[in-house]
Amino acid sequence: MKGLSQMFHSSRSRSQLRSSRSWSFSEIEYSESRRKPHFIGKVLMTALLTTFCIIIVKQPPSFSSSNVFSRREAGVIHVLVTGGAGYIGSHAALRLLKDSYRVTIVDNLSRGNIGAIKALQQQFPQLDRLQFIFADLGDAKAVSRIFSSNSFDAVMHFAAVAYVGESMLEPLRYYRNITANTLILLEAMAAYDVKTLIYSSTCATYGQPEKMPITEDTPQVAINPYGKAKKMAEDIILDYSNKSAMGVTILRYFNVIGSDPNGWLGESPRPELREHGRISGACFDAALGIIPGLKVKGTDYGTADGTCIRDYIDVTDLVDAHVKALNKAEPNKVGIYNVGTGKGRSVKEFVEACKKATGIDIQVEYLSRRPGDYPEVYSDPSKIKKELNWTAKNTDLLASLQIAWKWQKSHRHGYESPLPWPFECSLLKNWVCLLIPDGSTDEAMVIYKEHLLV
Ligand SMILES: NC(=O)c1ccc[n+]([C@@H]2O[C@H](COP(=O)([O-])OP(=O)(O)OC[C@H]3O[C@@H](n4cnc5c(N)ncnc54)[C@H](O)[C@@H]3O)[C@@H](O)[C@H]2O)c1
Repeated sequence: MKGLSQMFHSSRSRSQLRSSRSWSFSEIEYSESRRKPHFIGKVLMTALLTTFCIIIVKQPPSFSSSNVFSRREAGVIHVLVTGGAGYIGSHAALRLLKDSYRVTIVDNLSRGNIGAIKALQQQFPQLDRLQFIFADLGDAKAVSRIFSSNSFDAVMHFAAVAYVGESMLEPLRYYRNITANTLILLEAMAAYDVKTLIYSSTCATYGQPEKMPITEDTPQVAINPYGKAKKMAEDIILDYSNKSAMGVTILRYFNVIGSDPNGWLGESPRPELREHGRISGACFDAALGIIPGLKVKGTDYGTADGTCIRDYIDVTDLVDAHVKALNKAEPNKVGIYNVGTGKGRSVKEFVEACKKATGIDIQVEYLSRRPGDYPEVYSDPSKIKKELNWTAKNTDLLASLQIAWKWQKSHRHGYESPLPWPFECSLLKNWVCLLIPDGSTDEAMVIYKEHLLV
């Protein structure tokens, strides 16, 4: 963004420079106006120069223009956050910005929110802190352009489709979006020598382990396309790291809840994804009256209260794990960690906490088991504690839900009504949307804040 304004400024100053040159040029002309042949030549020359200046000013700001994001700067670490318009990615971007990192977000807004980007820009309006690039990671050409015109020190790769149920219905979409896109990203990182990757993986890669808690050595036997696609992406990353100096951290998250304690960001999935949604989203939707109530499936598991047990990790702690991983990243070093609290909570416990947090007596229907649900899943987070000195701090379920509820209450319709997808640049009010010239698909565009062009 700064580059854009810089380019504009530099175009302006270049044109100013040129027009001031033509000024003095015409001064000379004026004084020498009696020498006619020369005069005509110079008028022509002036006209040519003026046209040239106009072309420069009118040219769409080039994606590859040199800007602050394209240069390495001593003491500044520039992190590419893929999926930064989504729930976890936006929280990670916020934390990185608070910690003085320079952040580029790449997102295709298929599931994320432009409102999250705006919220980040509102907090960090400085032109050299945050830029947003609208692009699809499945578009290898666009990804390559992003890397060629930016200078990244590290990548946090969050972008993904991420619903177990949906992955059963649309497996190919999951393998393409998760596995194939990770390959595209890795190829770009390799080509442009970006040596640090923090990868968002999931406890779904473990499938249905017999023994709890889950350690990093628990065999990964994923049982749905989502978990399998993430496992394949992990394998690709690890194979490449064996053959390169890339420093890699794979973080396998458990169930993520909560939101930014300042209330700047929240979780806002698209309405059409609600049916695949997660328990916290369903709980808030029920409290807001969007759905009639909660359906708890399975009350006869061999757990203390008969409902399933899960490990809920607060998003603030989760992004802290990312920053710790980034700080400890080294070339040739690979780290794989579970990110959870190490403590399982039952669905009944969660529902009670949700009722308390929202102050609403949510209607709960207890139903028979859903096929494919595993009774108990919780992590052993001792490896990440030992090696990254990370431990979950926000382990009070009620407190996490209270914070998230505050945001939900003040954003009853999410960030804003989501943009239709696929969309046209013209739908982005107050934003300037630039098509990347030559070759790239229509989906590869860059969006800058309008006021930067003024
Ligand atoms: N939420 C959880 O409980 C949880 C648990 C384990 C792992 N994860 C992982 O964390 C990551 C983030 O999850 P989330 O909950 O924030 O999901 P989210 O849907 O809120 O965010 C994902 C973001 O990625 C973007 N995206 C998707 N495909 C893209 C593409 N091809 N090109 C560019 N952008 C694309 C979406 O628009 C969205 O903004 C995912 O990789 C997910 O698998 C999440």
